[in-house]
Amino acid sequence: MQHVAVIGSGTMGNGIAHVFAQHGFPVALIDINQSALDRALTTIGKNLDRQVAKGTLSEADKSATLGRITAYTNLAEGVAQADVVVEAATENVELKLNIFRELDQHAPAGAILASNTSSISITKIAAVTKRPTQVIGMHFMNPVPVMKLVEVIRGYATSDEVTAQVMDLSRQLGKTPTEVNDYPGFVANRILMPMINEAIITLFEGVAGVEEIDTVMKLGMAHPMGPLQLADFIGLDVCLAILRVLHEGLGNPKYAPCPLLVNMVMAGRLGVKSGEGFYTWT
Ligand code: CAA
Repeated sequence: MQHVAVIGSGTMGNGIAHVFAQHGFPVALIDINQSALDRALTTIGKNLDRQVAKGTLSEADKSATLGRITAYTNLAEGVAQADVVVEAATENVELKLNIFRELDQHAPAGAILASNTSSISITKIAAVTKRPTQVIGMHFMNPVPVMKLVEVIRGYATSDEVTAQVMDLSRQLGKTPTEVNDYPGFVANRILMPMINEAIITLFEGVAGVEEIDTVMKLGMAHPMGPLQLADFIGLDVCLAILRVLHEGLGNPKYAPCPLLVNMVMAGRLGVKSGEGFYTWT
C-alpha cells in the first residue's frame, strides 16, 4: 500500500485527499493552518455524503475513507512516510518552489513529488530539488471526485519509470490519465483559457450578455457550464494568472488577457470565492 501526502487543504487538496482515501490509500493531509484542515475534513465528509445519498458509496466506506485521512500542520512529519506527495498549495511560484525545497529535504529519498499546478512549469519546480527525475505534474480537475481526467505532465527531466508509475496510480483512482509535455498551460489550460478569454472579449465588445454567451455554449456545444460561469468557478484571478503564463511563455498576442478580466480582478471580483464575478453568488 502506498502512503500519500497531500500538501494544501483547499478545494483541490481536499478533493485529491478524498479520492486517494476513497481508493484505499492512507493519506496525510497537510496545511499550515489547523482551521483550514478542519474545514477540509468537513467538506470531504459532505462530499462523501453526496455519494452515500446517490447510493454509490456505503456508510461503512464513507467512515473508512475518513479514517484513512490524517491531518498535519507540520510538513516534515506529514511527509515522513510518503511514497507519493501531491502538492496542491496556492498557485504562486515562489510558494511552490519553497514547498518543493522542503519536500526534497523531508520526503523519503524514493518518493515521487507531484504538483497539481495548473500552469507553473514542472521543469522549473523540479530544478529546485535534487531529484528532478522524480518530479512530475499530476493535474486534477475540479470537482476532483467527479472529473475523470488527470493531466500527467512530464518535466524536462521526469523519468519514464516515474511517469509510468503516476499513470498507473491515476488509474487506481478510477481516473483517466493523459500524458503531456511541460509547455505553458500544458494542454488543458492552453485550450480552455483562450476559450474563456474569448468569451470575456465577446462580452467586453458588447456582442452579447453574460447569460446569452453561456447559453450558446451550454446548449449549442453541450458544455456542462458556460465559459463565464466556469470562469467564476475557477476564479477570475486564477484565469488571469494562467493567461499571463500563456502570453509570456508562448509570446503570442492572441493570449493577451481581456482588459475586462484584468479590471474585474483588480476590483476584487473573483467569482464564486468573492461572491461576485460574471454572476452574483450568495
Ligand atoms: N464531490 C463529490 N461529488 C460531487 C461533487 C463533489 N465535490 N460535486 C458534484 N458532485 C456530483 C453530484 O453528486 C452529482 O452526481 P450524479 O451525477 O451521480 O448525480 C454530479 O456530481 C453532478 O452534480 P450536480 O447534479 O450537483 O451538478 P451538475 O450536474 O450541474 O454538475 C459539475 C456539476 C460536475 C461541476 C458540472 O457542472 C461540470 O462538469 N462543470 C464543468 C466542470 C469543469 O469544467 N471542470 C474543470 C475546470 S478546469 C480545472 O479544474 C483545471 C484548471 O486548471 C483551471
